[in-house]
Amino acid sequence: MRNIVFTALALLLAAFAAKAVIDVKKEMEHSGRQLQYADGLRKETERIPHSIKADGSLNDRETSWWTSGFFAGNLWYMYEYTKDPRWKTLAEKWTAPLKPEQYNTGTHDLGFMLYCSFGNGYRLTRNPEYKDIMVQGAKSLATRFDPKVGLIKSWDKFREHNYPVIIDNMMNLEFLFWASKETGDPSYKNIAVTHADNTIKHHFRPDNSSYHVVCYDPTGRPIAKVTHQGAADNSPWARGQAWGLYGFTVMYRETKEKRYLEQAQKIADFYLNHPNLPADKIPYWDFDRPGEERDASAGAVAASGLLELSGYSADKGKKYASAAEQMLGSLASPAYQAEVGKNNGFILMHSTGHKPGKSEIDVPLVYADYYFLEGLMRYEKLKNGKELF
Ligand code: GLY
Repeated sequence: MRNIVFTALALLLAAFAAKAVIDVKKEMEHSGRQLQYADGLRKETERIPHSIKADGSLNDRETSWWTSGFFAGNLWYMYEYTKDPRWKTLAEKWTAPLKPEQYNTGTHDLGFMLYCSFGNGYRLTRNPEYKDIMVQGAKSLATRFDPKVGLIKSWDKFREHNYPVIIDNMMNLEFLFWASKETGDPSYKNIAVTHADNTIKHHFRPDNSSYHVVCYDPTGRPIAKVTHQGAADNSPWARGQAWGLYGFTVMYRETKEKRYLEQAQKIADFYLNHPNLPADKIPYWDFDRPGEERDASAGAVAASGLLELSGYSADKGKKYASAAEQMLGSLASPAYQAEVGKNNGFILMHSTGHKPGKSEIDVPLVYADYYFLEGLMRYEKLKNGKELF
């Protein structure tokens, strides 16, 4: 059945390809030149490319920042695509500084930080040192799960609350499935399943959009449903919707439980049917703020997630694949993609990180580039009738 779905998608994408909607080879070459330029702008790897500051200068961040794994991830994706060992060398160079983060128990974002960097590196090289680092990282992440609450604690504190959980946390569960498969210890995947089930229970509104932050009491009772990066507590922050879509798609991949597929599809349908989704399908930073800044990072995450979801969705698969193709096509256009040598070496322009915090508004963000590259490679695989996983 899955093969039939993938074949149908391949035919659909081939039909689009006949119209040359996205030339993946050209996009990867362009991105590669830009990544080389970005590397050349830096003399050391102590701080990691993240974004730019309001004055236009580089906003590189410390390795403990949640986005530290994406630049290395971009380089690993270039290695995966080109098989050119020069990309491997560069990826290793930007992966190595993240090693101390395996012991970081102060964040839920170890999935982003370690799985996108060491995880891609291990998948492509089988370097045993990378595996040990990741197993330790998964142990550190698991310390943030309190069985009485039934969720991983995203941050240590949010306002007066001691157990905040953000929808973004869904993105760090894939790492736990990897850890169970590698170690044979089911406790990691059990944490992921419990977290995802409680997220379905408490994080969604009747229209299938999600709150950004849900805060829990020590017994696991939700006591506040609020926002941090969205326009309002009740508004659908665009990137949060994209994180949920992608995260529940991964949950279905890893468990084959129908409830996760249904949740991912509900989120996708909310996103794609929203009257404020612009014609180019790259959302405004919040669905309740039409006309304001876009968030290309949400567009890239949603595109990559939808491409995977399309392969699991017999009836809606075509719609998801064609929307994802349109999103990637928009991102690959000059409206979002920077010329080589511009944009401080980032591939995409026009992302929004934290508008209510008055920071990272209409800027490049390294994770937009990561999910764009991932989406391009997924698109090409599907077009060629290959399975993604
Ligand atoms: N995980 C933080 C963000 O999406 O901005």
